[in-house]
Amino acid sequence: MQKIIAELEDKRAQARLGGGQRRIDAQHGKGKLTARERLDVLLDAGSFEEYDMFVTHRAVDFGMAETIIPGDGVVTGWGTIEGRLVYVFSQDFTVFGGSLSETHAKKICKIMDLAMQNGAPVIGLNDSGGARIQEGVASLGGYADVFWRNAQASGAVPQISVIMGPCAGGAVYSPAMTDFIYMVKDTSYMFVTGPDVVKTVTNESVTQEELGGASTHTKISSVADAAFDNDIETLLEVRRLFGFLPLAYGQKPPRVATDDPVERGDVSLDTIIPDSANKPYDMREVIEKVADEGDFLELQKEHAGNILVGFIRLDGETVGVVANQPLVLAGCLDINASKKAARFIRFCDSFDIPILTFVDVPGFLPGVAQEYGGIIKHGAKLLFAYSEASVPLVTVITRKAYGGAYDVMASKHIKADVNYAWPSAEIAVMGAKGATEILYRSELGDKDKIAKRTADYESRFANPFVAAERGFIDDVIMPHGTRRRVIRALSTLKHKRSEGPKKKHGNIPL
Ligand code: HXC
Repeated sequence: MQKIIAELEDKRAQARLGGGQRRIDAQHGKGKLTARERLDVLLDAGSFEEYDMFVTHRAVDFGMAETIIPGDGVVTGWGTIEGRLVYVFSQDFTVFGGSLSETHAKKICKIMDLAMQNGAPVIGLNDSGGARIQEGVASLGGYADVFWRNAQASGAVPQISVIMGPCAGGAVYSPAMTDFIYMVKDTSYMFVTGPDVVKTVTNESVTQEELGGASTHTKISSVADAAFDNDIETLLEVRRLFGFLPLAYGQKPPRVATDDPVERGDVSLDTIIPDSANKPYDMREVIEKVADEGDFLELQKEHAGNILVGFIRLDGETVGVVANQPLVLAGCLDINASKKAARFIRFCDSFDIPILTFVDVPGFLPGVAQEYGGIIKHGAKLLFAYSEASVPLVTVITRKAYGGAYDVMASKHIKADVNYAWPSAEIAVMGAKGATEILYRSELGDKDKIAKRTADYESRFANPFVAAERGFIDDVIMPHGTRRRVIRALSTLKHKRSEGPKKKHGNIPL
């Protein structure tokens, strides 16, 4: 028996060595951790249970029969984060460049199936040269098996992708179908075709980093939700994100005990709105002042800064926040902001996470580029996402809520549950100046008259009371009491029931 146990230990040690010490050193030389070291950072100490450590590929061509490495380039299994179950896979770049073979794909599919069956999230650590070139279509089939499961798992269990090295070709589509993508700065990239192909086809010269690095995907393409300086920081941030999420559909995110009292007022909110309607202020400050302990996990921070999305906790419970940001483009809704917020709302609604919306929006961004780019369709995504959401929706209008954007931003009319306004709110078809210029065009030459007309319009509509008179606003609240009012509103919605007409699914304007 002792001999058998020793043999097992040897086999395990061989599997743990992956592609060998030389390749492990090369991985470290690039500033990257190995697949197993990454799991050590991601998971609670000692919690990882590995599956399929001895699985090997079945390929025989191109000398593959002589190159058998147990585990086949991916470490899979389950562990815990803060004691909560999670299924994981971590591609091992030291084994055939982490490339995906038929059996490598089978290992990933196995843990995805278990995650769906047992109701736990999947976190994938991606570091791979793509399809295993020696295997051809068997590898492509393996990818498709993973893609299909990504779609099946969507809305059933949260899926998080962490890009920690190359992720190219069709391989990008698995992360793209997951809920969140985090990247590591300088050492990870994602693209459908690399710089060489781009040069051949379009004659554009671009570096790997420019084409698909973390900066590109967090700022320009919005493919990634966040990027961090190195492997360790990125994995610790994944742990933090995980803490806001439920394990599966039908389950609640963990309640995190807080010393921050529900009743905590913040008088600085009473003066945060500037005297001039055209002066900006930082909506992020409002969110942080309302959140438990000022903790706001912001997603897509570098993209479409005119809208903010992310998670906070209120009285210990996860809440999704969507907020116009007056500091960028005056908080207008444009194509990018609409898509960013719509996708976030869909996530929250899939997993029954309530949504708190802060509104300060002068309208949709005008312009030829916006119209040609399809602002109608993309703005509709946001409207559709809010309208279809059946989770608790609480809205606070802090300042402007103009035009169609008023309707879109979780208004009462699209079935938000509790809508508050600060006394500084202005709810109107448009700003007073624009409105008077249209209504009193014939008087435009007379500056005094126009000034009086503008003042009249302002006093009539630049306040929350016209909307409150109609019940479109449930109450005009003191800014300093926002935290208390919002938490109390959410407490009434814990058992919200909402049933729409019978159908298979809606047709969101994609
Ligand atoms: C088999 C691969 C591999 C692959 C890398 N390797 N990619 N083996 N299949 N796809 C092996 C290398 O032979 C090498 O083996 C080791 O991994 C490390 O690779 P290096 O090239 O030395 O590393 P580096 O210089 O860091 O470059 C990494 C890389 C490059 C940029 C990823 O390896 C590369 O371009 N690989 C090919 C990428 C690719 O074209 N993949 C197919 C994409 S199409 P040794 O033994 O020397 O250590 C695709 C379709 C998916 O993925 C479709 C889904 C529908």
